[in-house]
Amino acid sequence: MNILVTGGCGFIGTNFIRFLLNDKDFAGHIINVDSLTYAGNPENLVDITDNFGEKYTFIQADICDQEHMAQIFDDHEIDTVCHFAAESHVDRSIVAPDDFIQTNIVGTFNLLEISRNRKNQLSRFHHISTDEVYGSLGKDGFFYENTPYQPSSPYSASKASSDHLVRAYHTTYNLPVTISNCSNNYGPYQFPEKLIPLMILNAIAGKSLPVYGDGKNIRDWLYVKDHCSAVWEIIQHGKEGETYNIGGDCELENIRLVEMICDIIDETQVRRATGSCKDLITFVKDRPGHDRRYAIDASKLKNELGWSAKTTVETGIQTTVRWYLENKNWVNRVKSGAYREWIKQQYK
Ligand code: NAD
Ligand code: TYD
Repeated sequence: MNILVTGGCGFIGTNFIRFLLNDKDFAGHIINVDSLTYAGNPENLVDITDNFGEKYTFIQADICDQEHMAQIFDDHEIDTVCHFAAESHVDRSIVAPDDFIQTNIVGTFNLLEISRNRKNQLSRFHHISTDEVYGSLGKDGFFYENTPYQPSSPYSASKASSDHLVRAYHTTYNLPVTISNCSNNYGPYQFPEKLIPLMILNAIAGKSLPVYGDGKNIRDWLYVKDHCSAVWEIIQHGKEGETYNIGGDCELENIRLVEMICDIIDETQVRRATGSCKDLITFVKDRPGHDRRYAIDASKLKNELGWSAKTTVETGIQTTVRWYLENKNWVNRVKSGAYREWIKQQYK
């Protein structure tokens, strides 16, 4: 297997590459293509380059660059695609949607076209998407694979658009696609603009913890390693043309999650004698179009492929807080942007 992983220097892509290379049964070669936006950090994988050089190649490239991407498909005889690359942060999409349209829609279209022209050599095009395409739930109910799309933000609308294109390439051209729509991920290497790492790092630093609106919005949290195992299961055994929902079966109000993080950090006593981190919680103006509740029904994945999430939120959050505490160097370099300088020296 020559597997093209797009966006492998981002949060989930990094975890996926680590997951795959640490699986002793994985005998393929990973070609990680990433354009290294603000969210892409190749330092995440330096030890991988050292330890798994013969199974791993990194190429800095933009998925919107058709000529370069076609060359990569041919040079590396790509037979499998696992497409993570995207602009991924809702708040950024509200302020500046342009890059979301380019990367998420045009970039995906580009990869589909290149794949269509090499259909004979391609055994799987797996597209990573989000539960946000389904819109917002009320108090009850779940997202199913056939829930109608009703995206609220420019981010989720761009992901919805890319999902439709991927599905259309199966229906029209018989491209061997699968799609997964997952809930909110958390774990090591997540860029500290997303809720969980932001709250962990602000709490450690004694900075305010900005909770949007009344804090009662609900997300269904999925530990990133569980997500990676689900994606790998789908790539290997998922049925062509099918969509699979991936969820952690773990709904939490944002405020409850932030309080949980505060309790864990209070126990570590990194802020000794300065009171509870909960004192730092500040309710701020709500996000425009803020979806109220997400909840995934992942029973299709469980029934058809035998997958279920293994990590409880208690264990997952503990592990994640510990990771951010133990990886101060990574945190400082990401927060200061120092890794951008490193990229310039390595790849320019
Ligand atoms: P991320 O923002 O951490 O990483 C995205 C990566 O894509 C970065 O390394 C970036 O440099 C790269 N990239 C961006 N534009 C590119 C381009 N034009 N060409 C090549 N590379 C480019 O995102 P993430 O959280 O790892 O998310 C990965 C995927 O999972 C995305 O498709 C996202 O929509 C989806 N997803 C994420 C979550 C979540 O909770 N993080 C939930 C559901 C779905
Ligand atoms: P986020 O991590 O941005 O993921 P998404 O918007 O894709 O669900 O946000 C998770 C939830 O946390 C969401 O309901 C918005 C909320 N939130 C805050 O309350 N404060 C913050 O500073 C951030 C970044 C998010």
